[in-house]
Amino acid sequence: MKINVLENKIIHIINNNENIGNTLQQICDLLKKEITHYDWVGFYFKNGTKQELKLAQFSGKPTEHTIIPFGKGICGQVAISNQNYIVQDVTEQNNYISCGIDIKSEIVIPIFKNGENIGQIDIDSHQKSPFTKEDENLLEFVCINVSKII
Ligand code: SME
Repeated sequence: MKINVLENKIIHIINNNENIGNTLQQICDLLKKEITHYDWVGFYFKNGTKQELKLAQFSGKPTEHTIIPFGKGICGQVAISNQNYIVQDVTEQNNYISCGIDIKSEIVIPIFKNGENIGQIDIDSHQKSPFTKEDENLLEFVCINVSKII
């Protein structure tokens, strides 16, 4: 599926859902299904006032890492840095939380609401070095639009 078609589908999902949980689940399912190098797609959000992330909706294998302290792993680093993080080869990362030996690479994009980093979308891939600027642009698009309904 072409990226602009995918973006239109994302907007359609966001505009047509009344329940945030359903909306996020549909976005996870769509991205995982349509993009072959996306093997796990999930949203983490800041857990109340705690300095930790809590897993929300996801598509792919269940993970035991439902709570991630700020600073830990790729996700926890993004919670602090407020920057996109692309890891093309997870074996080169010291501060990484493994969700399975199949996972070779990861991309995490923060979600901002009123300038505050409130969560992120996290993608794991079974391929090494699959991510390009196109993934970053698409996922930023997702995060900007998700932020509008949170
Ligand atoms: N690999 C992540 C942990 C979350 S899983 O990918 C679902 C990390 O290092 O933060």
